[in-house]
Amino acid sequence: MKDFKLKPEIKYGSQSLGWIKNLKSKKILIVTDKTMVKLGLVDKVISNLNGSEIKVFDKVQPNPTIEVIEDGIKEYFMFSPEVIIALGGGSPIDACKGIIYFSYKIQKEHNGCIKRIPFIAIPTTSGTGSEVTSYSVITNKNSKIALSDDEMLPTIAILDPEFMKTLPKVVIADTGMDVLTHAIEAYVSTSRNSFTNALSLEAIKIVYKNLLKHYENAELIKPREEIQHASCMAGLAFNNSSLGINHSIAHTLGSNLHLSHGRSNAIIMPYIIENNKNAYEHYFEISKMLGLPSENIVEGKNSLIALITILKEKMEIPNSLKDLGIEFEEYKKLMPQFLNDIEKDICTTGNPNQFTSEEYIELLTKLYYGLM
Ligand SMILES: NC(=O)c1ccc[n+]([C@@H]2O[C@H](COP(=O)([O-])OP(=O)(O)OC[C@H]3O[C@@H](n4cnc5c(N)ncnc54)[C@H](O)[C@@H]3O)[C@@H](O)[C@H]2O)c1
Ligand SMILES: [Fe+2]
Repeated sequence: MKDFKLKPEIKYGSQSLGWIKNLKSKKILIVTDKTMVKLGLVDKVISNLNGSEIKVFDKVQPNPTIEVIEDGIKEYFMFSPEVIIALGGGSPIDACKGIIYFSYKIQKEHNGCIKRIPFIAIPTTSGTGSEVTSYSVITNKNSKIALSDDEMLPTIAILDPEFMKTLPKVVIADTGMDVLTHAIEAYVSTSRNSFTNALSLEAIKIVYKNLLKHYENAELIKPREEIQHASCMAGLAFNNSSLGINHSIAHTLGSNLHLSHGRSNAIIMPYIIENNKNAYEHYFEISKMLGLPSENIVEGKNSLIALITILKEKMEIPNSLKDLGIEFEEYKKLMPQFLNDIEKDICTTGNPNQFTSEEYIELLTKLYYGLM
């Protein structure tokens, strides 16, 4: 038996933040980062929570660490919230999930039962899709661990485009390419199915039509909203299929070389498409759907790679790790760590092709120099 989960409930569109006025709870913990406080986005949330007792935990940083989660767990038990709200990009949402996951585990061990509370996710990037997934990516020293558990699936996701107005271009570029990677990896994964295929293809189409418009002008409402929807749909897709080694490699490069998640995915993507020979037919289907040159399977696959290269060029994302200024000696030294992390990563088994260590070393070397 297989599962396709239609959860959480999604509130979307302008003014959708207003839904939180329904929260009758007295004690609300908001998990966020300092940028959200500085930009006044936390105040925007609080202004809709009249009469509630609110505690703001704003210690989350990009690529959240186990130490931040530990601090958050202490806050959780000290404050004992009746509702928890995650506000921010993937980092605050994932940190909030980690806090919930471990707090529930501790409760189960100590009391034999769990007092579950509503979990509201308000994404401010488009994005990781974390608002609709049961995944949380946590950094432990130099490794990223992708946890997956339905306890971490939000109860309600609120997609209010108002929150994306302040996004810097570099974040729009990186997170937008993360959306594209989710949709493409979900579409070719070993657990692909009719439900996830529909969501993936629509997300890819939306990114193709809107990402550059959103990147050029984050004030424009239509592309901003559309990319937010694509992000959420790609999240729903990969939560019900899986991702692949594009993400496994991005996780290890992100934690060892301190790279942004979306940027790592964007740099890696063409190399994975080229090497995932079992998925050529699906890449060809994507190109055909987008109206790109696709007379045959190989041309279709090449067109998809060309599209990604053009998107990266227009959004000033480099093509190789060398172009990012990473030293080869440092990179070479980390190779055993990369191989170890990739093998253990939860996303690796979903990839349409499996590779030997030698093949990974060759792929990682090409990726460094930008050689296809
Ligand atoms: N849970 C999942 O399913 C999943 C999937 C993919 C990635 N991830 C993880 O998510 C994290 C990355 O999340 P992300 O790419 O959304 O970035 P992020 O949350 O790390 O945010 C990146 C930067 O953008 C800023 N920012 C966020 N929203 C903003 C806004 N509206 N205006 C101005 N600045 C804003 C943040 O403060 C931060 O400095 C990584 O740890 C990655 O591994 C999780
Ligand atoms: Fe991702």
